[in-house]
Formats: sequence, structure tokens, C-alpha cells
Amino acid sequence: MNNARIIPIARMVRTTLPPGRDLAAPPEGELVDRRGRRVRDLRISVTDRCNFRCVYCMPKEVFDDDYAFLPRKQLLSFEEIVRVAKIFVDQGVEKIRITGGEPLLRRHLENLIEQLARLPVEITLTTNGSLLAKKAQALKDAGLDRVTVSLDGMDDVVFKRMNDVDFPVGDVLAGIAAAAAVGLAPVKINCAVKRGTNDDQILPLARHFRHSGHILRFIEYMDVGSSNGWRMDEVLPSAEILARIHAEFPLEAIDANYPGEVAERWRYRDGGGEIGVISSVTQAFCSSCTRIRLSTEGQLYTCLFAQSGHDLRALLRQGAGDEALRREIAAVWRDRDDRYSEIRTAATVMPAAKKVEMSYIGG
Ligand code: GTP
Ligand code: 5AD
Ligand code: SF4
Ligand code: SF4
Repeated sequence: MNNARIIPIARMVRTTLPPGRDLAAPPEGELVDRRGRRVRDLRISVTDRCNFRCVYCMPKEVFDDDYAFLPRKQLLSFEEIVRVAKIFVDQGVEKIRITGGEPLLRRHLENLIEQLARLPVEITLTTNGSLLAKKAQALKDAGLDRVTVSLDGMDDVVFKRMNDVDFPVGDVLAGIAAAAAVGLAPVKINCAVKRGTNDDQILPLARHFRHSGHILRFIEYMDVGSSNGWRMDEVLPSAEILARIHAEFPLEAIDANYPGEVAERWRYRDGGGEIGVISSVTQAFCSSCTRIRLSTEGQLYTCLFAQSGHDLRALLRQGAGDEALRREIAAVWRDRDDRYSEIRTAATVMPAAKKVEMSYIGG
């Protein structure tokens, strides 16, 4: 029961940071941005392609046969990625998350993981789970620490409506089981909730994953990119998600695992395990944002909602030395002032210049 606090249902979304989420003042000389935030979490996208067409991420009307995905020579090589990752680790990064698109579509990904796993940081991966049953063991052997699997419903009809490629739930569940069996644990399950499309899956998912040892998290539908036709009325606030679950399975809040954790953690009072909510629309967490993203083609993005990045690939391919790369990375982070989710308005949702797509930048 340490750290547990029972919170009345009317206050199910926190209005202040809990103790574990306070960001301590950074030591002098450390790399901080213009809002005093440190760089801790590097997210590396290894492909902009995906075998799903989730309606909130890669709608078929936009990501069709004519869509111009990146040609192979524009992708960063594994060697280039590892070089950049090492510099980030020297600058304070503690966790590397591999993303896509669907990262398991990138050929020989285990080779990249094997090299990244030599760095003194945690290596994680976010996947749609479609290829996980086949690849879990090789990923574990390569040194991957754990996985997060996206799963937007338990019911096959709803799940297929979300992924829009007729992919069955059973295969993703097999992937999750395989990941847990080889020790890529704890497995986290991410469900993006779109009101009116899959919010009837919240309770079935909660029932399924209680007592499983996996950590189910619900993500508020976000206005990432410029393709998904996002509307505020399709966002189901985390407070409502929690209230629905709490009505069937009483919940209590638990503290963050580390400062700046994206998910707010809750657990079932009866010992059924932990769940989380990610409330970037109704409760922005920009003040503790320690994340930076490296796109498939080597652009550095300091915000998930950015319209442009910083070209590291050009530097890499012009033969820049490590010190020049380090200086550039430090300059980008120091100049960072992003807080998109805190200042979201109708104008930022549909800006004049397009925002980058989630499938290109990674989640
Ligand atoms: P762990 O705590 O290590 O499991 O990682 P995490 O929760 O940071 O990683 P994960 O990729 O599972 O993040 C969950 C989801 O939260 C992402 O897929 C995004 O949808 C969302 N998210 C993560 N980082 C940000 C962020 O900086 N801004 C916003 N708006 N959403 C984010
Ligand atoms: N809103 C919320 N979550 C999203 N994801 C992708 N696009 C969106 C969006 N617009 C989620 C995916 C996956 C993770 C990478 O981000 O479902 O779990
Ligand atoms: Fe693919 Fe993930 Fe986007 Fe779905 S959310 S289309 S699985 S990248
Ligand atoms: Fe960080 Fe941008 Fe997300 Fe805010 S909106 S938490 S600044 S990535």
C-alpha cells in the first residue's frame, strides 16, 4: 500500500503533479531547454510504413497506394542511428524507444537493437503486435528490455474497424503472450480511445487484462499530424475513462515511476493490477516533457506536434565529427520551447503548415 492514495471519483483527474512527478532542479552545467527540462527519453522511428491503417493515425484515404513513403536511401542506416544514439546517451538520455510506423517491418531490426543494447540505457519498443509472436524471441535475444503493444479493442469487429486492414485481435493477443513469455516485461498495452468508435471497448479491455501482469493504458485521441480529421468531441477525457472502470472495479492512484512519466498510474483496489491514462488533451504534461524524437530520415523533432525538424542526416552525411553533432544536438535542445498541448487552440489544431504525422515521427 505504500504511496497509495484513495481519490474520490469526482476528482479522478489530478490537478497538480503528484510528488513523484515533480521535476527536481537540474544540476548546473546539465543540458536543459528554455523551460528548464532535461533530455531523458530518445524515441527513434525506424520506418514510416505500417501494415495497419488505424483510422486515427493513417487513414486509408490519405495513406493509399499513391502515398509517397520514404525511399530506402533516405532512411538513416543502423550505423548512423547508433552514432546519434551514443551522443544522446552522453548528453543524459536514459531510455531509448524504437518506434515507427510499425518498427518490426524494418528489416534486421534485431541488429540495431543489439548495437543499442550495448549502451547503458533501457531499450524499449512500441509495436502494433502483428509480427510480435514471430519476433519476440529474437528481440529479447538481441537485448530489448520490454515492449509496448497497441491494442484498440477486444472485439474483433471493433478492432478491425480501428486497424482498417481486417487484422484479427487474436494475433495481437498471441504477440502479447509471446512477448511476456520471453521476458519482455512488463508488457504495456496502449489503447487509443476514440469516442463513438471504440470507447465501448474500455471495460472489455480492463476485464481482460486485470490479473494478467500487463499494464493497460488508455490514450486520449490526439490531434497529431494533419490527416486524421481530429475533432474535440471525439476525445473521451481520461476522467471519464477512469470513472467507467472505477464503477466496476474500484481504483486508487499510485505515484509515477519516474519524473516526467507520461501515463498517470492507477491500480485496482482488489489487487487486480495496474492501469494508466495518458491525458495529453485534457491534462497536458508539457512542463515535464523530457522527450526528443529522431525521424526515420534523421530529422530531430522536439515536439510530437511539430511542423518541422532539424536535419541531422545532412550533418552525418557531410562527414561531421562527433563533437559537431554533439554541439548541434545540444543547441537544438537548449533552444527548445515547445508546449503544444498546453496551448492547444483551434488554430494550432489546423495550422497553415502541416504538422508531422505520427506514423513518420513515432508515438
Ligand atoms: P514508458 O513509461 O517507458 O512505458 O514509456 P512511455 O509511456 O513514454 O511510452 P509510450 O510510447 O508507451 O507512450 C505512450 C503514448 O503516449 C505514446 O504512444 C503517445 O501516444 C503518447 N505520448 C508519449 N509521449 C508524448 C508526448 O511527449 N506528448 C504527447 N502529447 N503524447 C505523448
Ligand atoms: N491519438 C492518440 N493515440 C495515438 N496513437 C497514434 N495516433 C494517435 C492519436 N492520434 C497511438 C497508437 C500507439 C501509439 C504509438 O500512439 O495507438 O499506441
Ligand atoms: Fe500503424 Fe501504429 Fe499508426 Fe496504427 S497507430 S497505423 S499501428 S503506426
Ligand atoms: Fe512534449 Fe510537445 Fe507532447 Fe508537450 S505536446 S508533452 S512539449 S511532445
